[in-house]
Amino acid sequence: MELFGTSKINQKNHLEIGGCDTVELANQYGTPLFVYDVALIKAKARGFKKTFEDLDMKHRVVYASKAFTSLALYKLLAAEGLAFDVVSGGELHAALKAGVSPEMIEFHGNNKSAEELAMAVNVGIGTIVVDNFYEIELLKSILKETGKQQKILLRVSPGVDAHTHSYILTGQEDSKFGFDVKSGQAEQALQLVLADQGFDVIGIHCHIGSQIFGTEGFEAATEKMMAILLDWQSRFNFVASVLNLGGGFGVKYSDEDTPLEAPEYVKQIATMVKVSSQAAAYPLPEVWIEPGRSIVAEAGTTLYTVGSRKSVPNVRNFVSVDGGMGDNIRPALYDATYSAVVANRMTAPAEEVVTVTGKYCESGDKLITDIQLPILAATDILAIVTTGAYGYSMASVYNKNPRPAVVFVENGESQLVLRRETYDDLINLDVIN
Ligand SMILES: Cc1ncc(COP(=O)(O)O)c(C=O)c1O
Repeated sequence: MELFGTSKINQKNHLEIGGCDTVELANQYGTPLFVYDVALIKAKARGFKKTFEDLDMKHRVVYASKAFTSLALYKLLAAEGLAFDVVSGGELHAALKAGVSPEMIEFHGNNKSAEELAMAVNVGIGTIVVDNFYEIELLKSILKETGKQQKILLRVSPGVDAHTHSYILTGQEDSKFGFDVKSGQAEQALQLVLADQGFDVIGIHCHIGSQIFGTEGFEAATEKMMAILLDWQSRFNFVASVLNLGGGFGVKYSDEDTPLEAPEYVKQIATMVKVSSQAAAYPLPEVWIEPGRSIVAEAGTTLYTVGSRKSVPNVRNFVSVDGGMGDNIRPALYDATYSAVVANRMTAPAEEVVTVTGKYCESGDKLITDIQLPILAATDILAIVTTGAYGYSMASVYNKNPRPAVVFVENGESQLVLRRETYDDLINLDVIN
């Protein structure tokens, strides 16, 4: 199994990340514990930026904070020059608290409330990605009331639907996000926002899916988006200064996954934008991308302590750990697969097939189904890798299990960035006691 970034086997035969022995981290901070490899996060962020810089193209790398947020991460990525995509008043609040410049934030979402939109306008958010007709009306009246002008992107669904291994050219119309192009809704929206002084329409946006491996879907989307821009230039005299092509770049969860290095996707699509703009004498727009998973997934590892086991002869071996669907809902939610290592016995031979389950009261609370591992015993530290995206950010307190702590590791130092929830935290919202 592949280890990412600074992860390696140390002299004690333990998993080491960022120069820190993960067994010691488990002792110090307890388990379950999310461990983030800071050097790898920085390398991913820099890889995206460098790709654009090498192409000498104006760009924005907008981190999709839904993948994982903490004030420390906002600060870290802001220092790397990234912008941020937020999808709620809560994410916006957190980004601002971390000191992110409002100008570097874009607001996404298919049902932003009037309160959220007013908050965004009032703090001077950089861009609002307008998603639907209802939002146009809400925003219009907020802008009228405040007398402000707001930079916006129009989110369109270009009719490209990318899946992990393939893409299709139809089907995306059946999406709750964005203005449909085929039915004419997108151009109707454009006309509405161009007609209102409150909107400064800087460009268009699409996002075709997540955990995408090939470049075909991105290429098809880029081609369609450029065609839309050329069409809108000739028919509505609209020239975009920004083309936002969303996120979705794939990562490696297990050996079956074969993503490209993320900047490779970007190189392809940015080059396409450059070439087709030149060919049509269209002013080269800034290209924005919104990677989430590909910045943080491989940098994150979850440490669990092994507890009980149950072997059903000729059926299955269950091994339970001290976390589960509360800190990683992805296997239960969409059959996501993961790889794992035994952090305290890294080179032990894999001798049995087990299903790693959590401690939650759901039969579907499985983290990994049928994985070949060394024979696990209670107190072993199991490290599930590539858990940095959509794990903690989707965490729940189901069964009143506190959410885990999160540490950043770099150069042999560990830093607690999110403390473990306490039992008292779990009853803090109760108003009757
Ligand atoms: C609009 C938008 N941008 C970016 C992303 C990030 O996608 P990923 O984490 O796959 O890069 C998402 C994910 O759902 C999204 O909806």
